Amino acid sequence: GSAARAGDVDVRPLVIGHRGAPAYAPENTLASIDKAARLGITWVENDVQRTKDGELVVIHDDSLQRTTDVEEVFPCRTSWEVKDFTAAEIARLDAGSWFGRRYAGARVPTLDEYMRRVEHNHQKLLLEIKNPELYPGIEQQTLKVLGNDGWLDPQHLAGRLVVQSFSADSLRIVHDLKPAVRTSFLGTPQFSDLPSYARFTDGINPSVGSISTAYVAAVHAFTGPHGKPLNVFTWTVNDADTARQVTRYGVDGIITNEPDVIRAALQEP
Ligand code: G3P
Ligand code: CA
Repeated sequence: GSAARAGDVDVRPLVIGHRGAPAYAPENTLASIDKAARLGITWVENDVQRTKDGELVVIHDDSLQRTTDVEEVFPCRTSWEVKDFTAAEIARLDAGSWFGRRYAGARVPTLDEYMRRVEHNHQKLLLEIKNPELYPGIEQQTLKVLGNDGWLDPQHLAGRLVVQSFSADSLRIVHDLKPAVRTSFLGTPQFSDLPSYARFTDGINPSVGSISTAYVAAVHAFTGPHGKPLNVFTWTVNDADTARQVTRYGVDGIITNEPDVIRAALQEP
């Protein structure tokens, strides 16, 4: 095998750039993960949805309005939903100007483009299947793109990819289709429901306001489908005090809009 690169060893808790580095560059764009890379942030999170003609794209909202110029480019349309636009139409949109003029021309990436950039940057990915109820079959399609890009090879599955969703059904489908893929459920299931989650998910990703030391310990007490204790990645933590607090709770990962700030807070003695 190849020699480990500096930075390959993950220090816990992981610091995960939410949608990239969205405090500094437009969320879910290639510019945003490049910015995260320049900050030395290895783990990034994204959101995957589907166009009208079946292409997977990286964008958070189900509408194109907030993060693109869709209303200017398509003034006659009556819907702004991702699912009502083709990939070619979405490729025409500017997904950077809303954030700042220097990002004019940033695009909504396809998942394929995005994966290639994550690979190029030597980054690791927490991939969210967003709104799967709108996109029947998106799990199989996501796995196909990942497979085409080499992300289902054993060295990736060993620790560079986690698939997350608010939909337990969606994660169950991913797990059944490709049991080797690590998954994580977005939410805060009750203690009594954790045993059933542990059959198909390797982690629980709760919102920061919903957790405590007791909750994190309860999740850790369960073993996931890959024989390890369930992980806890919490979101969205954007200040140093909260980052230190959730570290004391014992979380395994912190999902943040300001990954450099949080990493610095965790490195202080
Ligand atoms: O990764 C956690 C977080 O992304 C979940 O919420 O709405 O930002 O996708 P949202
Ligand atoms: Ca997300």
